[in-house]
Parts: sequence; structure tokens; C-alpha cells
Amino acid sequence: MAMSGQIRVGIIGAGLIGQTHSLMLKQIADRTEQSVRVVAIADVASAAAAKLAARWPGAKALTSAHEILDDVALDAVWICTPTAMHRETCIAAARAGKHIFCEKPLAMSAAEAAEMSETIRTACVISQVGLVLRFSPVYTVMKALIAEPEAGRVLAATMRDDQDFPIRGVHASGWRNDPKLTAGGTLVEHSVHDIDLFTWMFGSVRRLYCQTRNLSGAAGVEDFATAEFEFENGMRAHLVSIWHKMSGRPSNRRFEIFAENLFVASDFDMDGTIILQHGASASQETISTAEVTGRFAEIVKTERPHLAPFLDTLGVAYALEDANFLAALRGEARAYPEFDAGLGVQRLVEAAYTSARAGTPLDINN
Ligand SMILES: NC(=O)c1ccc[n+]([C@@H]2O[C@H](COP(=O)([O-])OP(=O)(O)OC[C@H]3O[C@@H](n4cnc5c(N)ncnc54)[C@H](O)[C@@H]3O)[C@@H](O)[C@H]2O)c1
Repeated sequence: MAMSGQIRVGIIGAGLIGQTHSLMLKQIADRTEQSVRVVAIADVASAAAAKLAARWPGAKALTSAHEILDDVALDAVWICTPTAMHRETCIAAARAGKHIFCEKPLAMSAAEAAEMSETIRTACVISQVGLVLRFSPVYTVMKALIAEPEAGRVLAATMRDDQDFPIRGVHASGWRNDPKLTAGGTLVEHSVHDIDLFTWMFGSVRRLYCQTRNLSGAAGVEDFATAEFEFENGMRAHLVSIWHKMSGRPSNRRFEIFAENLFVASDFDMDGTIILQHGASASQETISTAEVTGRFAEIVKTERPHLAPFLDTLGVAYALEDANFLAALRGEARAYPEFDAGLGVQRLVEAAYTSARAGTPLDINN
């Protein structure tokens, strides 16, 4: 049933992404007469819970997810723990009747993600997964450009996604190095976003071929992966996913798409410029950051008007995904992307690992 009044939220995991969502919820609250409030934070590290709870007047700082779930007045939880804890927390939250925003990747395996999805369906709670690139201004505008009829058929795409191996100080925590806590390495932990982006833009995958390498020596945590994707519509995409050790280099994506009459590319995954060239033009042109922002705003106002009030927020993609989930709780929008999208991409990542282990391409049964 659609909710009204102030939505009471708990955040489970007060690390990097838990803090990000807290900040986003604060911005949303400030723009909507406090329509949402974080009332409890749980983290096994009590100091982390206390520090984040201090940002929300009256919020409780707890040390276990179960203490949060015992609060009958709580409406929804944001699950922001390391991946290994998602399944148990999510299932407990669904059984407690809490609506669930869960960070990606959903789980340690596709089987776990399917179990979570089924429990959510049975419990009839609303769920959304943190595949935030679907709210990226740059990628939303690129998606719109390739959808224009004059672009012609999309033929191919390449994505190079690299970032500093996130156990070397960029992230304060070190769990991404521990195969008991992470479902793998760069492919599942980071490029789950890229593979979701591919299916969002290009549709279903019918065949893939992946290779992985492990140069850093962290067992079970690959730091290099390449993958070829063939889509049902015949187009191809190539992914290069790297966790590197280049301390001076920030996390970075380059995404290029070739259509029959359009080349479009960007070195930015959220805000930034887009390069494009139309078939008849002799040179490339650049869409400025301001213009990308403007085009994104027009798309949001047309397709998701309930998100328009949040277009000027800091970290806009994260704010929009959180605002969308809250709108879904109020019955004003669909949760997006729903858990099944998280399950779908988890199945693809798992298929990629299977292909890498076997050393052969793999057909995907859609
Ligand atoms: N969508 C994105 O852009 C994005 C970005 C970063 C992380 N993530 C995802 O978010 C999740 C968390 O990543 P992070 O970077 O915030 O990690 P983090 O290490 O910074 O924070 C995790 C927090 O969870 C706490 N924790 C561990 N076990 C717990 C438990 N059983 N109960 C409660 N708290 C517990 C830790 O003490 C820590 O404070 C991961 O699944 C990660 O893949 C998503």
C-alpha cells in the first residue's frame, strides 16, 4: 500500500556508500519538507554508526541490522554492508516487512540473489537495487542520442573501466580483498555497473566470452577482466575492467558507441562532456557539460517528472535513485531498477566468470 507522511528509514552499514545515501537522503529531506528521516543507523563498528547517526537529530546508533529491523515504526532500509552480508540482511528485512534499497552487487552468487528476490516477492515489499549508472547524466544523454532514428542501428560499443584497486587507500575499508566478503574482483564489484549499463542500453545478451587475470595475488579477487558481449539484436560490446595500482590516476571510464550514422563517446561516467560525430560531418563535436546537464534535465522532466525537484543536488545520480525509491514507496513511481534487474546482471556476471574458468564462450538462455 502506498505510504503517506514522513518515511522513516534505517541505514545498515555506515561506510562509504552508507554515508553517501545519508547525504542524499538529507538533500531530499531538505527539499521536501522533511518527507524522509533517517531514524537509525546500524554498523558493527559502533563508532561508524554513532558518527553517521549524529547527522540526523534523534537517530539511534545500533550495532546490528536486527536491532534496526525490530523497530516496528521503521518503513524502509538501505542495505550498505559489504556484499557477503546483503543476503541475510535483505531476507530478514523482507520478513520484517521493511521496504529495501540494496546496494550492488546484490549477493555473493546469482542463487543467493534469486533467493532474495523470491523472499521480497513473497513479502510484498518494494525493492530497488543501487545500479546508479542508470541515473548518470552522461549515459542517459548517450542513450537518447543512439535512440534517435538518424543514428541508425547500433553496431558496437567499447567500455574501459579502470580504478585504483580499492584496498589501497581510496576506500577506507579492505574487505574487497577478501573472497569471503566479496563475490569476486573488478568484474563483479565494479563492472556489474558496466554490464547493467550494456543491457539497459542494448538489450539482452545472447552470448559472452570473458577472460580474467589476477596480478595482485589476492586469491579469488581478479584485478583484470575483458569480456565480449553479443546481444540479441546482433550488436557487440567489449569490456575492459581493471583494478590498477596507479596511485595518481583517478577512477575512470571511457565509453564509445558506434552506430551506422553516429559515433558517440565520453570520458565521464556521471557529469561531463560527450563527443559525437554524425555520418555526414567531417569532424567531431563536443557537447559541453552544461549542455549535457540541460539535456539530462529535459529527459528527467519528461520521463520521470517526480525527480525534477532533485536535479540540482550534489551527487545527482545517487540523489535521483534514492528519490525514485522514496517515490515508489509513496506510489508515485515504480521502483527502478527493481531487484530483478540486479538478479539479471548478477546472472550475467556469473556467466562471465563461468566462461573465464572454462576458457570458452557461453550462450545465455534468456
Ligand atoms: N553503487 C555504488 O556506486 C557503490 C559504491 C561503493 C560501494 N557500493 C556497494 O556498497 C556496499 C558497501 O560498500 P562500501 O564501499 O560502503 O563499504 P565500506 O567498507 O566503506 O562500508 C561497509 C560498512 O558496513 C559495516 N558492516 C560490516 N558488516 C556489517 C554487518 N554485519 N552489519 C552492519 N554493518 C556492517 C562496516 O563496518 C562498514 O562500516 C558494497 O556492496 C559495495 O559493492 C556501491
